[in-house]
Formats: sequence, C-alpha cells, structure tokens
Amino acid sequence: MDQNNGSVGKTYAYEIKGGTPLKGDIEISGSKNAALGVIAASIMVDGVCTLENVPDILDVHVMFDLLRSLGAKVDALDNHTYRIDPTSINTFRASGPLVSRIRASYYLMGALLGRCGKASIRLPGGCNFGQRPIDLHLKAFQLMGAKGARPSDINSGIVNLEADPLHGARIYLDIVSVGATINAMLAACKAQGKTEIINAAKEPHIVDVANFLNSMGAHIKGAGTDIIKITGVPVLPGNFTYSIIPDQIEAGTYMIAAAVTNGDVTIHNLIPTHMEPLSAKMREMGYQIEEGDESIRVFRYNYDEEVYPTSVKTSPYPGFPTDLQPQTVVLLCSADGQSRMHENVWQNRFQYVPELAKMGANINVYERIAWVNGKTGFRGATVEATDLRAGAALVCAALEAEGTTYIMNAQRIDRGYEHIVQKLRDLGATISRVNHTPEYGEEDTEA
Ligand code: UD1
Repeated sequence: MDQNNGSVGKTYAYEIKGGTPLKGDIEISGSKNAALGVIAASIMVDGVCTLENVPDILDVHVMFDLLRSLGAKVDALDNHTYRIDPTSINTFRASGPLVSRIRASYYLMGALLGRCGKASIRLPGGCNFGQRPIDLHLKAFQLMGAKGARPSDINSGIVNLEADPLHGARIYLDIVSVGATINAMLAACKAQGKTEIINAAKEPHIVDVANFLNSMGAHIKGAGTDIIKITGVPVLPGNFTYSIIPDQIEAGTYMIAAAVTNGDVTIHNLIPTHMEPLSAKMREMGYQIEEGDESIRVFRYNYDEEVYPTSVKTSPYPGFPTDLQPQTVVLLCSADGQSRMHENVWQNRFQYVPELAKMGANINVYERIAWVNGKTGFRGATVEATDLRAGAALVCAALEAEGTTYIMNAQRIDRGYEHIVQKLRDLGATISRVNHTPEYGEEDTEA
C-alpha cells in the first residue's frame, strides 16, 4: 500500500526501519496550502478553469468534494490536473461534516460571499495547536459590508454572512494571518470599489492565490508585500489553465530528512528562494545546501564533522515557517550542543515533544520555547502522529533512528504529503504502511 489519496476515515501506521542515509533525487508536488486556496477561489470564476500540478493528497480531495457538494463540476483529467466548472453551483451553504474535516474550508466564506453575496458555512476544523480564531476573517467581511460577521452572530457553529452589496474597504489586520488575508482578498475581488489589506501575510501561497485570481480577471496588486490592493470587478471570466506552485513545506521536510540521515539528496521542482529561511539555518549548522534554478542538493562533505547548534524563531513569511518547526526540532537534535526553538505563531505547537522523547530526544519545553539538547540519537519506538507536521517530524526521526519505529495515525501525515512512502523508498528508506491498533483513535483535521 503506497497510495495516500483516498484514505478518508482509515487509520494506519508507518513502519520505518531507520539508519539508512537517504540518497538520490526527489520531485516536490504542488503546494497543499496554495492548492486549497486556489480550489476554493475557483468557485468565483464565471466560466471554467483547469488546474495543473495539484497535489494528490487527502485534503485536496476533501476540498474537491466540498465544491461538488455546492453543485460545481470537478473532473480529473489526470492525477494532478483538474477541470473545474462552478457555473452549476446552486447553493451558498456549506454546513455539512466535510467542512470540519479541513481548516481551509474557511476560504469558502470569502469565495461564496464574492460569488453569491451570501455564505452559510460551518466553522472549520484544524490541527489542535492552540486557539485558532477566525475573528480577523470576520472583521474583514464586516468592513466589506457583510452582516452576520460579528462573533456573537455565530449560531450553532454556523457563520451566516450576507452583504448587499459587498463593498471595498480598508482592512487592517492587527495580527498577520494567512487565512484572513486570503479570505479578504477573495471577497474583495467581487466587491464594489477598492479594498486595501494592510499588514497582509506574504506567504508564497498568498501570491499564488492572487496570481490565480488575476488569471481569471481580478485586479489584485501587491500580493507578497504587506499591503495588498484590490479593485473589485463584476465578472471574472474563465477558460484558463493555472499551475500550482511547489510545496515549500514538503520540500523543507525532505531537506531535513536528507540531513538527519547523513544523506545526499537533490530535491527538484522547488523554488529555492522559498526555502531560504531553512537553507540559511542548515548552512549555519554545517550542512551543504547547493542551489540550482529549481532544485536544492543537501549533503555534507564530511559526515564526521561537528553539527553546530543554533536558535530558530518561527514567524510569518519570509520568517521561518511554523509548519517546519517540528521537523526542524528533529534536525536540532542532531547538533553537538544545545539549540533553541521559539514558536512564535501558534500557542501550543510542541505536543509532539513527548513522542520524540520516547525515541530518545532530550528536549525541555518552557512556554513557547523548546531547548533541544543534541546528539542523544534516536531509537525505534511506537509513537503517535499528533498532527500533520508533528507526524512529518516523527518520520524524519524514525529515518535516522536505530531500529524500527511505528508511527500511529499516519493517515494524518498523508493529508499533506503526496506519496510519501514511495518517495522515501525511492531514496532508499525502508518504510511501509501497516494496520495499526485501534486505541489511537480516529482521524482528525488538517493544518
Ligand atoms: C495557515 C496554514 C497553516 C500555518 C499557518 C501559519 C493553511 C490551510 N494553513 O493557517 O498550516 O501553520 O497559516 O503559517 O494555509 N489569528 C487570529 N485571528 C484570526 C486568524 C488568525 O488571532 O482570525 C492568529 C492565529 O491564532 C495564529 C496567527 O494568527 O496565532 C496566524 O494564523 P493564520 O496565519 O491565520 O493561520 P491559518 O491561516 O489558520
């Protein structure tokens, strides 16, 4: 079993025999978070569009099912190419259980508001790493004239928004939020007049969603900077093809897997500038990071040389991505000395540390800082993927570990990593999916 795309509701484990340096070449898939934003945005097109480089992962399939539940036609041309025709959408309501399976279902608020002037959406799900409010999303909609956007308007977990009409606004985000930036941008594309989003998030997938919207006729300027300006248009004509950017977090995870196994891996189909926060830290630690136009090779000239400890602080792009924080803690475990990881985005994103400790890690967490004592080595153990990126960190540790590791609830990892088992096998890893014991509970939602 090495496919991961259709496993809704199934639970299983990864069995990994560690200790083999990863070697060879690997291709990165399309970005999960960009794809989720773009697919939601596609319902605003007044025509059809074709998406290429769509990652074949569970969360994307859930998002497609959500579109189908609204009445859109979604056809797979191959595993990574989809034709979307939203002209048959016949409802502005998305309140079924699918909505709470993925966090990114919140993008349907902005997209449906833009398309229909109304949206009735169940609150999204999400990995549990602290409070995940959507107050900034709602504030943006309220400023654009939507009624029902006050937190007190939320009724039985359903947000009912209506704007007559939706109008442009000056929106200041007091916290840099990826989701609120994209949601405000979506609604603003069809609002009357001009919108300015100030203190906008700058993540690569925000630029990708903006490029996609501009391809369908939207007028968005400044995506990728902290002020985004949008002039609303009444129609977004369709009939175009758009290719999703590569996944920054998948690429970073394989860079770390290569490093901790003392491997030599060239990672293709990535954008090296997106990797700069990680590449800079890895260089500081003594790893060789060789950049090509669309590739990065990770290796070391001498594997016996010291790996230097460092300190890392997560922050919005172009800062160090929080979604690489757990995997990077595994990397810090390989350093000769004490390193520090400061989680600055999420309140509670060190839940995986006790799992790493079962494998031999020596990490002390105090509030938002993890002090990582390196060079303790990893040993095989039975551990649980508490969420998607935590699971990816355990995979990195297991690949390095002496002995065999069982990672329970590995379906959580498959939510965001296309064909991870096959990709790692191609690099020489010994990994397979196996049935797991039921006491680890059922599947949750994504990051
Ligand atoms: C997105 C990513 C997630 C990543 C995160 C930060 C998707 C589907 N998920 O999540 O993988 O970890 O960006 O890079 O793209 N906040 C508020 N009020 C709001 C919204 C956010 O206070 O209305 C706070 C959050 O609690 C958090 C911070 O802002 O502390 C950043 O959150 P945000 O950027 O919105 O994360 P998501 O869009 O949910």
